[in-house]
Amino acid sequence: MFERAAVSKKRWRASVKTLLFSGLIYPISQLAPLGRFISLAFGLNVAKRYDRLFEIIDRYKCRRIMEIGTYDGEHAKQMIETAKKHFPANEVEYYGFDLFELLDEHKLKEELSKKPPPYHIVKRKLEETGAKIFLFKGDTREVLPRVVNTLPTMDFIFIDGGHSLKTIESDWRYAQAVMGPNTIAVFDDYWNRSDAGCKALIDALDRAKFDVEILPPKDRFLKEDGFLEINLVKVTRKRS
Ligand SMILES: C[S@@+](CC[C@H](N)C(=O)[O-])C[C@H]1O[C@@H](n2cnc3c(N)ncnc32)[C@H](O)[C@@H]1O
Repeated sequence: MFERAAVSKKRWRASVKTLLFSGLIYPISQLAPLGRFISLAFGLNVAKRYDRLFEIIDRYKCRRIMEIGTYDGEHAKQMIETAKKHFPANEVEYYGFDLFELLDEHKLKEELSKKPPPYHIVKRKLEETGAKIFLFKGDTREVLPRVVNTLPTMDFIFIDGGHSLKTIESDWRYAQAVMGPNTIAVFDDYWNRSDAGCKALIDALDRAKFDVEILPPKDRFLKEDGFLEINLVKVTRKRS
């Protein structure tokens, strides 16, 4: 009898674990109803940090926007729509960089990335906004050095491309070339780990040259090896 009770207790524990993990690890759209309820109740797996992008663009009336890592263009569209509150559509400029269909399995792993839709789909979606769209396909470690001298000074730069330390360092290096005294750069992926994401770079930034602000809110995602915590970080040149 005791044996049967122990087995059923073990089974019960296993199914609760499966339920929780199937609910908490995967994206919200794929969750089982109870897992989705638990995730939403605890505020897990729902990214809240991106609202800060639109608040900054609105507050500082940014017109020239650069995004490293355009992905599906959804946030790009929202950034452009926010800029359109202050400028006619055809005066808003968006400069987007992504590998698009050049992202292969190797790069996907190396950059801890997500697979974006093809270039032409994202281009069409963004052109519907009426803004001037400049979309660059390729690895930013090669594309940015090639084109950076042809780009104007940006009002807002969102750095959210590859997550390897090498790529983030390179993206930041070339982003600085299009940063004027008033440009606001925002990094995604300030993680609670330093082997990838922008934490190592941000923590080492020279505070005598840059104002650095880790922006709330902190998003939290339950992964197999624990919680991944993520903040956006705002960086501007220090005024002398
Ligand atoms: C996390 S997603 C970007 C999300 C997007 N910024 C947003 O807010 O929805 C990262 C993107 O960077 C791109 N990427 C990764 N490594 C890259 C590299 N080395 N060069 C160019 N793009 C890269 C991926 O193709 C992917 O679309």
